[in-house]
Amino acid sequence: VPVRAQARVNLAAVERNCARLREIAGTELCAVVKADAYGHGAAPVARAALAGGAHWLAVAAAQEAADLRAAGIEARVLVMGAVSEQELPRALEAGADVVAWRAAFVELLAAAGLPVRVHVKLDTGMGRLGTRDMSEAFRVADLVESSPSLDLIGAMTHFATADELGDAFFGEQLERFAPFADDLRERGALAHAANSAATLRSPEARFDLVRCGIAVYGMDPFQEDPAPHGLEPALELWSYVAEVKRVRAGESAGYGRRFVADRETNLAVLPIGYGDGVRRALTNNADVLVGGRRYPLVGTVSMDNVTIDVGPDPEVEVGRRAVLIGRDGDERILAEEWARRLGTINYEITCGFTPRVPRVYHRDSVEAAR
Ligand SMILES: Cc1ncc(COP(=O)(O)O)c(C=O)c1O
Repeated sequence: VPVRAQARVNLAAVERNCARLREIAGTELCAVVKADAYGHGAAPVARAALAGGAHWLAVAAAQEAADLRAAGIEARVLVMGAVSEQELPRALEAGADVVAWRAAFVELLAAAGLPVRVHVKLDTGMGRLGTRDMSEAFRVADLVESSPSLDLIGAMTHFATADELGDAFFGEQLERFAPFADDLRERGALAHAANSAATLRSPEARFDLVRCGIAVYGMDPFQEDPAPHGLEPALELWSYVAEVKRVRAGESAGYGRRFVADRETNLAVLPIGYGDGVRRALTNNADVLVGGRRYPLVGTVSMDNVTIDVGPDPEVEVGRRAVLIGRDGDERILAEEWARRLGTINYEITCGFTPRVPRVYHRDSVEAAR
């Protein structure tokens, strides 16, 4: 039965990607499942990641940790983002690990009177969260250690340019982090710094734990083909052919007549649009697979529909599956291809699928329960 739009998520691919990342890293794996697992669905992906050998999960917000608990997930969850005083009870109720870089925040944690697991963050050059001041980072770590209800669990940092191969700044950040990591490791803490790109490119960056997001989903942090890393895209975006119509030369399709046929041809209408996350900038700038062949998306992407030019001799019939992202026969369209066309990164592509698109879970094409 055709479905107007669906994001099909292969949980077996998530599992294999996690196993692969563990093999590459040789450390513990923390699967980053923030932003609803980069649009894939946090709880099902988290379970698959844990089944694939991840021991940790990470999110950005306290609420995301609470949502994982509500779904019955008991694994370690690290809230990597800033947690306001207002959000703190939510993180603590979830039993989440939190990140600290200011003494005042540690005092707040201590005042909660609950056992809290704390990671201290040094800003080695990302220029976002964490303290840039090494002595401040040590002071915060000391304060955590001296607070009876708090546990010093980790020393962390985050790279700004791990995905830019050949960039010297990456090495500089690594050098800045090393003495802090060494010191806290001696006190029994885990050091962690690597996102997916750092995990793939740099053995020195892996420390005790790697925090991988994009690679868990089988996308390439370097915006190329994930396959050479042994990673498989977990998500496919499908629609179907809801209508086929013959147009003559000079006839147009869609808002603003941005496509005018220069010959007699057939247009197939797919009931998916920017209201689903097919960005409007893909107007006249994408391909779609039907029956294992690539056809150009023509005309303006509208909120609920797109049109593709399927040529004069239609094998493309109403009801056929249309693959906007994914594999069909020997052809493949990666999220990286959309990202290149849109001048963005694959992260933003899958995060951009809207709630109107049902996420359908399967394991290598066998339907899976959430
Ligand atoms: C602090 C931190 N660590 C790790 C990650 C995972 O990054 P990636 O998806 O590139 O593996 C993120 C996500 O942006 C992050 O903010």
